[in-house]
Amino acid sequence: MPEKNNRKPRVLSGMRPTGKLHLGHLVGALDNWVRLQKQYECYFFVADWHALTSDYADTTRIKANIMEMVFDWLATGLDPEVATVFIQSHVPAHAELHLLLSMITPLGWLERVPTYKEQRENIKEKDLGTYGFLGYPVLQSADIMMYKGNYVPVGEDQVPHVEITREIARRFNMFYSGRHESVFPEPQPLLTPMPKLPGTDGRKMSKSYDNAVLLSDPEPVVRQKLKTMVTDPARVRRSDPGNPNVCPVFSLHKIFSEPPTIEKVEIGCTTAGIGCIECKSWAADALVQILNPLQERRRKYEENPRLVWDILEAGSARARKIADNTMDDVREAMNLSHDYEPPRNEASAAK
Ligand code: TRP
Ligand code: SF4
Repeated sequence: MPEKNNRKPRVLSGMRPTGKLHLGHLVGALDNWVRLQKQYECYFFVADWHALTSDYADTTRIKANIMEMVFDWLATGLDPEVATVFIQSHVPAHAELHLLLSMITPLGWLERVPTYKEQRENIKEKDLGTYGFLGYPVLQSADIMMYKGNYVPVGEDQVPHVEITREIARRFNMFYSGRHESVFPEPQPLLTPMPKLPGTDGRKMSKSYDNAVLLSDPEPVVRQKLKTMVTDPARVRRSDPGNPNVCPVFSLHKIFSEPPTIEKVEIGCTTAGIGCIECKSWAADALVQILNPLQERRRKYEENPRLVWDILEAGSARARKIADNTMDDVREAMNLSHDYEPPRNEASAAK
């Protein structure tokens, strides 16, 4: 891809600090991030301010949640020497850009965002009728625009947020670019090809459904969770043939098992040649094999959380440098630069 200055395209993505991550995060985001870091100039950050847009009332767990999440990031193979890994709130320029963008963002754009409407209607246990919550996509736009991001790897649900970023970037460029070239590129979503990953109850794997296998679950816990997993409901007796295509355990096999195992399950299930207990134990084997090396790496970070904090601080310092440059451009474009300019009066303007 030809890019200005021959620099690699920039990729940027963030995650709210929800604590320990599960398999859904691995296949839906992290594996992809680890791949992308080799190809692009990558920025991955903890969106702690975004967490506050809904979880503002009790912030006692926020630091612990950041650490738990970043242990999993590093365990998965995100390399802080290659990608810039940082904490959003440690780069205060995000707040300044958010403020400036809020000036040019029409309310209607925000009220129309599907996640906004949906969450206002569905989430009743906390009051989301706040200024900050409505502004969630403006903050996300600031995150992306700050690094002049070209690509934003996200799941389907986040695409409207990248769309609104494009619109805000376009509006900014229209108002303030003047004779200069555009300050901001229009970022594109990089849709993460997300295999459907069911949790133990067959619904989408999610922390809030309490159906998730955590990346940090020890082997006995993984095996126990798999034992309780729902299967093809029509397969009642061991002698009944099953239909793998409606079985959540088979969905796990398709994602995590080797082809010979998948084939063995397909044939065994449809001919009643295997039992569900056996089948689940193979799925557990596949998971354990993937999680073992990850957990070994995780342990090193858990034992040395100070090192992880230092990694995040170093990343945040790197991010602040880029952010400061962008803010110079932004202030310059908006006539807010910190440089002294002699006052202009009518007479000198006319001369
Ligand atoms: N809203 C994103 C989510 O919930 C997290 C996020 C915040 C983000 N800022 C971002 C993602 C910037 C991509 C780019 O998953
Ligand atoms: Fe599902 Fe496996 Fe049982 Fe078939 S044998 S129903 S794929 S758990």
